[in-house]
Amino acid sequence: MEKHNFDITALLEAAFLYREKAYAPYSGFSVGAALLTQDGSIFGGCNIENAAYSPTLCAERTAFAKAISEGQRHFKALAVVGGPQGQAPVDFIPPCGVCRQWLAEFCSADMPVFLAKSMEEYQSYTCAELLPHSFSPHML
Ligand code: THU
Repeated sequence: MEKHNFDITALLEAAFLYREKAYAPYSGFSVGAALLTQDGSIFGGCNIENAAYSPTLCAERTAFAKAISEGQRHFKALAVVGGPQGQAPVDFIPPCGVCRQWLAEFCSADMPVFLAKSMEEYQSYTCAELLPHSFSPHML
């Protein structure tokens, strides 16, 4: 297991906690995300669906929007957990393509993203692994 200089347990717990807040009446699929900032704060988010479907916001972007609107800009890690509502996760849920582009905007290429099925079972990917060759802020 890789070593990190932060508490993965607290980050995973927050992702599981925020999954409980999901508003997902259409898909029945609840997702929680937790974003660790450089100063050690954790911002949680859940997916927020909409009757018109496409305005749906993923858990990851909810967490980012909360953190960024509080002035946070530097991030150390993200955790994501999801699955059919009311059930323990069945799969490791990776961020969708749009959320990966948000990661490319705000996070370093080597920042870890943890995908968890339980507190004990999780995978870790870097942002660059999730979205290689990303269109990035420095290109503008
Ligand atoms: N969802 C997320 O919140 N994050 C992802 O990265 C994948 C998908 C949500 C969106 C929608 O509310 C539900 O999962 C099913 O797609």
